[in-house]
Amino acid sequence: MKLSKDLLNNLIDITSNSAIACFPYIGKNEKILADKAATDVMRDQLNKLDIKGEVVIGEGELDEAPMLFIGEKIGTGKGPEIDIAVDPVEGTNFVAKNLPGAMSVLAISEKGNLFNAPETYMEKIATGNNVPNNTVDLDFSVEKNINNYSKAANKKPNDITVCILDRPRHKKIISELKRLKVNIKFISDGDVSAALLVSDFKYGVDIFMGIGGGPEGVLAAAALDKLNCNFQGRFIFSTNNDVERAKKMGIKDLNKKYEINEIIKGDSIFCATGITRGDLMRGVIKKDNKYITETIVTHNNSVLEIVKKEVPIT
Ligand code: FBP
Repeated sequence: MKLSKDLLNNLIDITSNSAIACFPYIGKNEKILADKAATDVMRDQLNKLDIKGEVVIGEGELDEAPMLFIGEKIGTGKGPEIDIAVDPVEGTNFVAKNLPGAMSVLAISEKGNLFNAPETYMEKIATGNNVPNNTVDLDFSVEKNINNYSKAANKKPNDITVCILDRPRHKKIISELKRLKVNIKFISDGDVSAALLVSDFKYGVDIFMGIGGGPEGVLAAAALDKLNCNFQGRFIFSTNNDVERAKKMGIKDLNKKYEINEIIKGDSIFCATGITRGDLMRGVIKKDNKYITETIVTHNNSVLEIVKKEVPIT
């Protein structure tokens, strides 16, 4: 079974509508309300689809999230069996503060093909398809990764840009990058879209690296897989609770490095609609009696397609 074009169109409608639901909260400093508005719409509309779906990446576990929790059954139960990864608002701070880069994200695969990630941090590294997939590696030092990339892409270190979340936990990586004279693009949040910046030279990012959310890592991998890019992730379990959860989810080797084809397999769809303007697409615009949205989509083509929609205000 391949995921149908109709399903793709439905998903684009859903992320567009959840982004629109967030629109009134842009710049209102209310990230919980913004997330709830988007989550309500996304869940309501996913439940109308003729699928037998299950949330594998969601808003949290049942005890933390009443909606779109991990394991929640989704859809009318009539259609194909589907794994669903959701992030109704990726970049809640961006919405709250009216900063660029917030988006509403969904990814799906056929049952059993999307990694069921725990709510922990993940060490991540990604490059575009301009270099072979073994060029950089989570097990290499920063220096070795930069030297390998430099050779493979035929670029001097001072022509290479690495994108990383601006966090104290990255102090060592950042000082290494500075020593090597590599350019750094710091982001304050939103590492799903940051990882996607490696997919085309026009975004000016060569390597994405650092520690961010595990669920966000799986979402980024789902898109990068279809774009033939490279991604590795390794979960970080820092508390006993994290370890217990991981074991419950069936993870046996807690130090395992996951390759992209272990995170996402087979046919998949990734859709992300801009809530606020970002590097990849515009945010929601309200014009006359309609909302205009832009959604980036990966399915069976190897470029990030942008789909525009006009949704009448009712
Ligand atoms: P939210 O949208 O859930 O607030 O997540 C934003 C985000 O920046 C992610 O993109 C990233 O993976 C994670 O938070 C990083 O977590 P932290 O802020 O704890 O470093």
